[in-house]
Amino acid sequence: MQQVNLGMIGGGTVGSGVFHAWQKNGDLLAARLGIKISFRKIAVKAIDEPRAYPIAPELLTTQWQEVVNDPEIQIVIELVGGTGIAKTMVLGALAQGKTVVTANKALLSAHGPELFAAAAKSGVNLYYEASVCGGIPIIKALREGLVANQFPAIYGIVNGTCNYILSRMKFEGADFATVLAEAQKQGYAETPPDLDIDGHDAAHKTGILGSLAHGFWVNHHQIHTEGIREVSKIDMEFAAKLGYTIKLLGIVKQAAVKNPGRKTLVQVSVYPALIPSAHVLANVNQVFNAVFVRGDIVGDTLFYGRGAGKDATASAVLSDVADAAQDLKHGNQMRVPPFVPTAQAGKVVPLDEVISQYYVRFSVVDKPGVLAKIAAIFAAANIGISSVFQPEGDEGASVPLILMIHDAPNAAMRKALARIAKLPAVKAKPVMFRVENLE
Ligand code: HSE
Repeated sequence: MQQVNLGMIGGGTVGSGVFHAWQKNGDLLAARLGIKISFRKIAVKAIDEPRAYPIAPELLTTQWQEVVNDPEIQIVIELVGGTGIAKTMVLGALAQGKTVVTANKALLSAHGPELFAAAAKSGVNLYYEASVCGGIPIIKALREGLVANQFPAIYGIVNGTCNYILSRMKFEGADFATVLAEAQKQGYAETPPDLDIDGHDAAHKTGILGSLAHGFWVNHHQIHTEGIREVSKIDMEFAAKLGYTIKLLGIVKQAAVKNPGRKTLVQVSVYPALIPSAHVLANVNQVFNAVFVRGDIVGDTLFYGRGAGKDATASAVLSDVADAAQDLKHGNQMRVPPFVPTAQAGKVVPLDEVISQYYVRFSVVDKPGVLAKIAAIFAAANIGISSVFQPEGDEGASVPLILMIHDAPNAAMRKALARIAKLPAVKAKPVMFRVENLE
């Protein structure tokens, strides 16, 4: 049986998970692939660092160059993370003609085109299944299973930490900071957690999904990103009364823009949104991730699973290793390359131009005429109100006033809210979340 040799850089949580999964199912993998996969070297920060699973000590080195420069190693797994030394490692391995498997969403997001160009130059592949949604094979689904489709819309719950926090806030009325601390303790949250909470981790993943779906590379700087710090229990409760659930969504949508004469533009955004509680995506809870993909041929599909953790991520890494091994077996005759730039001129539309629907909560003085003043500002901006809800509130001198808003461009909405915020009867900064009906 043909044999391929692996090198791995990173032997912490995920790295030891990959080694453990290989120990457990390596023989099965070999039988399925007709290729024996062996570990040859694993570079780690410190030989005796604590690990989730033990790694055979004879494989360990603290010198990553020993992995990248070993002529017997054909596949290098990069699990270091970040955009610094990890980039040198990946480029170094590609330059040596090694296929690279990475879980590094930040690196791909920032430097995707450069990395894919380096891989192409060396005639090898760069695989990245583990970079988006851990164990869910979403990259492979877009790249292979759904290769015959265009993608009008993708909505993802792609950050487990945020989903865990929002779920516990919703179901237990739990406090944001307490739940965040627990997510960190369980190893889900990034360090620092701002990467999760402020939506950056989700933006890296959403950009990768958008790039793959639309054939041009989406850098995370192009992605309008909002996190979950503004989501409060009160809005969760009001949203629930209106039939909605608040989720942090990564959104990739062929954009609804005002100027339809322009070529197809894509909205790529991350923000907390109200989605119908009856929709399957609203019922994805705790640390689970899910990606709802609409293909123009296949229709609606849903991919659900664990988006983080040593074992789920190891499953994705070894799936890439299996593809990489097949490449080697068949002389690098790639079946469907990991990224194909089909739409170099594609463009991310600025969110200001995107048309959305909205939930807005005002804290207002409870007296006649206030609603009329707010409605007049919306009317002047050509923004239509679809419903008004004034629940019981306990805000002292002010009361909550909730408006659901019809389709309106984000710029118009932003300007109208700024004007409304200045009304004397409006007592706090208006709270606004977009509504995604997933239709
Ligand atoms: N911190 C991420 C999450 C996992 O909470 O989903 C790694 O991408």
